[in-house]
Amino acid sequence: MTNTPTNTRVFRSILITGASGGIGMALAAYYAAPHCTLILWGRNPQRLEEISMRCRACGAQVVTREIDLQNGQAALAAYAEDDQAHTPDLVILGAGLADIQGHDSLTEDPEKVFELASVNYATPISMATAAARAMITRQGGQIVLIGSVAGFYELPFAAAYSSSKAGLAFFAKAARLAWQRYGVFVTLIAPGFVDTAMSQRLESPRPFLVSPRDAARIIARAIAERQAECVFPSPFKVLNVLMCFMPKTWREYILLRLAVGQKGRE
Ligand SMILES: NC(=O)c1ccc[n+]([C@@H]2O[C@H](COP(=O)([O-])OP(=O)(O)OC[C@H]3O[C@@H](n4cnc5c(N)ncnc54)[C@H](OP(=O)(O)O)[C@@H]3O)[C@@H](O)[C@H]2O)c1
Repeated sequence: MTNTPTNTRVFRSILITGASGGIGMALAAYYAAPHCTLILWGRNPQRLEEISMRCRACGAQVVTREIDLQNGQAALAAYAEDDQAHTPDLVILGAGLADIQGHDSLTEDPEKVFELASVNYATPISMATAAARAMITRQGGQIVLIGSVAGFYELPFAAAYSSSKAGLAFFAKAARLAWQRYGVFVTLIAPGFVDTAMSQRLESPRPFLVSPRDAARIIARAIAERQAECVFPSPFKVLNVLMCFMPKTWREYILLRLAVGQKGRE
């Protein structure tokens, strides 16, 4: 593989899931260049078309796939097709969804929990494994999993979301150890608040908010440097350390008092 850690423009073929969302669109636009094939996955055909046109205008070759990642088997079959046709050397698994437990509800909605577990955890780790298998035979590649700072906290109002991202983070660490000896590098991205549809649904402050464009730049640098983990923006790194050293009772006291709501809940 010819990629060098300092040049973000050398990937030949990049597959992005969640390419119809705020962060995924910004990443696709960031990497769009004449030498590059972008394989853009999402569900919303209008937004896929919109980002495809923007990327083609930058000279990239673009193929799109409308797919629901709740169906992990379908995702693996589709990945096999796209891998054979386009041999991606960078796979960014960014599709995800979030949900906040309603104030008047005793638990999260079990069906939503299953959807979250599938889209945020089961499908991306299965796709990452399929990508690694193929990349190992090609002597290298990079796999990026988009987690969240929420994965560092046992959020009582979002147990499914925080645990799905915690699982993804643990998978990323283990997979990196397993595959880097074969030239396949895994990076976990753990953003704080990024100004996309996902965080715009929250009924709470979004401290240290980052634009999707800035997020894409930060993520691309982490990818170029083959970082194991990229937590941004920086105040969340500090918060992590503080929360780790805090006595458990204080930590739980704080987590139980966080009041986060979600717009549009019926
Ligand atoms: N925004 C934040 O503040 C923030 C913070 C931390 C982590 N993250 C993570 O960043 C990633 C991207 O989120 P975003 O902020 O860009 O949110 P977004 O704008 O809501 O985009 C989410 C993306 O995931 C796709 N997706 C959701 N469910 C899917 C399903 N069942 N099948 C296929 N695709 C599905 C969406 O596709 P369609 O729109 O086409 O349905 C969309 O492309 C997520 O993993 C999220 O957890 C975001």
